[in-house]
Amino acid sequence: MSRNPNTQKKPHDKSGHRAFFGRVAGKRLHRGQQLLFEELLPELEIILPENGRFETKRIPGRRGHEKILEIGYGGGEHLARLAMENPETDFIGCEVFTGGIGKMLQKIKTHDIGNISLFTSDAYRLLKALPDASIAKCHLLYPDPWPKTRHNKRRFVSPTTLEELARVMTGGGRFYFATDIEDYANWTLAHMLRQNQFEWQVSARPGFWHVPFAGWQPTRYEIKARRQGRNRSFYLSFVRV
Ligand SMILES: C[S@@+](CC[C@H](N)C(=O)[O-])C[C@H]1O[C@@H](n2cnc3c(N)ncnc32)[C@H](O)[C@@H]1O
Repeated sequence: MSRNPNTQKKPHDKSGHRAFFGRVAGKRLHRGQQLLFEELLPELEIILPENGRFETKRIPGRRGHEKILEIGYGGGEHLARLAMENPETDFIGCEVFTGGIGKMLQKIKTHDIGNISLFTSDAYRLLKALPDASIAKCHLLYPDPWPKTRHNKRRFVSPTTLEELARVMTGGGRFYFATDIEDYANWTLAHMLRQNQFEWQVSARPGFWHVPFAGWQPTRYEIKARRQGRNRSFYLSFVRV
């Protein structure tokens, strides 16, 4: 794994814009997971082009197939389910935590999933490398909340990441954001509205932002939040205008 250029580099952008602050390694990988890192990951892993950005035709996945991105997929339950339900779509999963990547690899192997590519470093680096208007949907589900005010700037949602997200998304593309932290929901809404390239999908139903997305199944972090007594989440959906 250490030979992988994505993981070797520190997840900092050269412009000094932002760094990844979360956990990268947890418990030691067991032997089966190590083998998956050595044998399966190289087949699925996205390596960034040396000179910055993918050409449109070189973007990972099958030519002409819609691309969907999930940032911070955790154990990969949501990503694996979507990929199995939509075999004609190509999925790109970004996760930096080795335990999560290991779980994802296990799911891909067990279910013989053929339409997922994986990026194993800071998702912002991938966003910077993707061509304009190349991603149809993006999911950011229960991102690390960084609740202390002095840590808020570590949140994935920021003017810089949203600028790249807007650039890589197709017109009419959808961005899905879920959190159990009210302050992060407000933060995201404020940043999205200020950014002006996405339209919040609203409905007349009171409290519609607590209603899960169509076909939703709780993610691992949502289940954890409920266990810890955080009983409501915020589901925000935006269209790229
Ligand atoms: C709170 S967990 C949520 C996991 C999953 N989405 C869920 O709902 O169960 C957030 C995940 O995002 C990953 N993550 C945080 N920042 C990231 C980044 N910049 N690029 C890729 N993954 C990131 C973390 O490693 C962590 O696994």
